[in-house]
Amino acid sequence: MEQKIIASDENYEEFTEWLNGRKKAFLVCDKSISLLTHINKKLNESKGKIIRFSDFEPNPLYESVVEGVEIFRIEKCDSIIAIGGGSAIDVAKCIKLYSNMAGNGADGGYLKQEIIQNSIPFLAVPTTAGTGSEATKYAVIYYNGKKQSITHENCIPSIVVLDPGTLKTLSLYQKKSTMLDALCHAIESFWSVNSTKESKEYSRSAICGVLENMEGYLANTKEGNAGMLMAAHTAGKAINIAQTTAGHAMCYKITSSLGVAHGHAAALCVRKIWPLMIKYMHHHCSDSRGKEYLNKVFEEIAEAMGCISAEQAAWRFNELFLDLDMDVPDVTNEEAGELADSVNPIRLKNNPVGFSVHDFYFLYGLILNSKEALADKLVIKVASEMKKYFKKYGIQYDRSADPERIIIDYMANRKSGIPAMSGNDTVYLPEFQKWRKRLGDLLAFGDKLLRVLDVTVEDHGYVTIDFEVERDRHRRKFTTRF
Ligand SMILES: [Fe+2]
Repeated sequence: MEQKIIASDENYEEFTEWLNGRKKAFLVCDKSISLLTHINKKLNESKGKIIRFSDFEPNPLYESVVEGVEIFRIEKCDSIIAIGGGSAIDVAKCIKLYSNMAGNGADGGYLKQEIIQNSIPFLAVPTTAGTGSEATKYAVIYYNGKKQSITHENCIPSIVVLDPGTLKTLSLYQKKSTMLDALCHAIESFWSVNSTKESKEYSRSAICGVLENMEGYLANTKEGNAGMLMAAHTAGKAINIAQTTAGHAMCYKITSSLGVAHGHAAALCVRKIWPLMIKYMHHHCSDSRGKEYLNKVFEEIAEAMGCISAEQAAWRFNELFLDLDMDVPDVTNEEAGELADSVNPIRLKNNPVGFSVHDFYFLYGLILNSKEALADKLVIKVASEMKKYFKKYGIQYDRSADPERIIIDYMANRKSGIPAMSGNDTVYLPEFQKWRKRLGDLLAFGDKLLRVLDVTVEDHGYVTIDFEVERDRHRRKFTTRF
């Protein structure tokens, strides 16, 4: 079925026309609809009747869907409209799929039955640029505390209205986290073992769309919002084919245990999984197309990110996340262990690089560690200053190097005077790690980097970094040197 996209730009002619052709539409909407006056006006002007249903929460329950199906049947509705974020669209999808099933859904009845296709017209208006749910055959609901992934082509909305006006009233945190969700969808689907030529095209286009529109979107311009909606939708089309991978498999528990928004949690994971995947790919590649293929995919993602190496792209993503000032919560070793145990191995089957439970324990310790994040911020800042220094003094350096590699290469170069080159891991990686450890010892969990005051390259090659952090609401100045 070909999905029709209406890029509305607050021009709801086609939407109104569609609505006027229905006798009684069943509208599934979340609370965001109260702020969307222009859509409400169109709904109120509709010739047909509209039955509103909002009795569900984020991470919707099966029971809410059952209630929706009951009302849909009693009211004899002839069509479904979903207006809202991913949860509203997922509830509407399930109501459509369950509406022609036998029984009343008691005791999980609808979950046990085979889905029989129906032709109920279904229109969706996403009000966040993130989940891409309007483009996928998947819906997620919860039954008895367990996540249920419902999959059927028949739940893909036949018409989607992409209206940038719906994003105007979102909070900045919602905008950032939903955008990160879309970006993670684009990246994870790109490297997924299920990717196809078509899905990779969607992934590439979504990555470019997110990066190109980020500034305008965060500033709430109409063009930025329109571009981000389209990018998130395109990322949805990519996961509809290739699905998500380890980033998403790891993030669900962070959301449910620590209350971190879904996209925020996914990005927390992707920023640390990515470099490790590049490192592990040679020995733990699980994509049947082989490690050369996977290596090429990492390079293709880098190209879409505007980077010249896979390592650089992984760091670019981390930098992008850190620049958004997203919180990095801290966990104890015990909590990291619980999170690692909770990762469902079945959901990891799409990941092109194999990880063990021990890897996840290590990863959660890195992911949920505010000191690590602050140290990453400093590494990025220092590497950028080093590049300026190289340029000023005409020093050659590896342009494909990531920030960490820039510093390691500098460490290798400053003593010998030999032009900087990669591959000095045995000597200089431990030296770099020692510096990071010393940096970590200076910091406390929860410190926030306020600014880097100065990065100075001394005559004998040592580098001093003065920076300021916020600790317990007080400003503290520190100096570190390598
Ligand atoms: Fe997601």
